[in-house]
Amino acid sequence: MDKIPLLSVENLTVGFTVNGHVLHAAEAISFKIHAGESLGIVGESGCGKTALAMALLRLLPHPKGKIVGGHIFYQGEDIVPMPLERLYQIRGGEIGFIFQEPMTALNPVMTIHKQVIEAIKLHRKLNKSEALLAAIQLLEEVGIEDPETRLKAYPHELSGGLRQRVGIALALAGNPTLLIADEPTTSLDASHKAQILSLLKTLQKKRGLGLLFITHELGLMRTLCDRIAIMYAGQIVETGTTHNFFEHPKHPYTRALLAALPILTGPKKDRLSSIMGHVPGLGEWPKGCRFVDRCPHAQPPCHKPQSYIKTDTGPVLCCRVHEL
Ligand SMILES: Nc1ncnc2c1ncn2[C@@H]1O[C@H](COP(=O)(O)OP(=O)(O)OP(=O)(O)O)[C@@H](O)[C@H]1O
Ligand SMILES: [Mg+2]
Repeated sequence: MDKIPLLSVENLTVGFTVNGHVLHAAEAISFKIHAGESLGIVGESGCGKTALAMALLRLLPHPKGKIVGGHIFYQGEDIVPMPLERLYQIRGGEIGFIFQEPMTALNPVMTIHKQVIEAIKLHRKLNKSEALLAAIQLLEEVGIEDPETRLKAYPHELSGGLRQRVGIALALAGNPTLLIADEPTTSLDASHKAQILSLLKTLQKKRGLGLLFITHELGLMRTLCDRIAIMYAGQIVETGTTHNFFEHPKHPYTRALLAALPILTGPKKDRLSSIMGHVPGLGEWPKGCRFVDRCPHAQPPCHKPQSYIKTDTGPVLCCRVHEL
């Protein structure tokens, strides 16, 4: 029998109340992450990636955002109905969260020392000197040189790259088994971005972490993730191994994302073809295939409701006209 996954999301729907109506930002989402495995969720801006990530730890803005239905099993325990006491152990403890903008996790008026020590003590029973040692080790582990000096700094005294390293240290403070990273490199320049990606990869392998990595840049997935889920307008349209995505993309949206990837070699004029149009807003989703208005293959049957089909590479939201 299969081992219990670290995280098993089943039929999860997340909504926001807008003008008295609950509009879905993520709908009927299902995926699994096993220990030591990395899953990338990729989709354009507004597809519902952050709504989904926040829902996983019940961090949705209250009272506007809510879990409308479904389950989030962490090692078999459902997070959705979980009492707050247990939720607080898991949040920041067994599951670490890395935010897009490191200042979201950092308190601007507290030294790094205070913040890292507090995070460690919240989840681990250590005395003062043990906690200080653990803080120094954590900062070293995330590649911060001269950690004793850095601990004395305030967040604004650090570069963006260093701040994100501290953000990662905070996410690791409770010795998590699973990390959720929501666009952790978006606010960084290209060289810091590459360094943070390589750090995450190293930490994941070394600690055997499960990793949920959220991004709108499909290209980042190639080296970081074992599997990829493509998200469009609140739905996962296709899931499969990273290799299959790049070699055998199936859904027209996945193909469009791949076609929009910058090609680093070859003539400049061929380097970028972006997807025409934009992701529909909440409550504006087409009734049938949600990609219909932007899809180069769209035909009348695409306006009818779609369902998932199993393919040799993983589940794909049915495309009625395009061979999957
Ligand atoms: N608090 C909120 N109230 C109402 N609507 C919201 C709220 N937060 C997000 N939304 C809407 O939910 C949809 C999904 O937003 P979300 O932030 O999850 O997208 P995303 O995929 O993370 O995008 P990005 O790549 O820009 O971070 C969008 O249409 C957004 O406008
Ligand atoms: Mg987001």
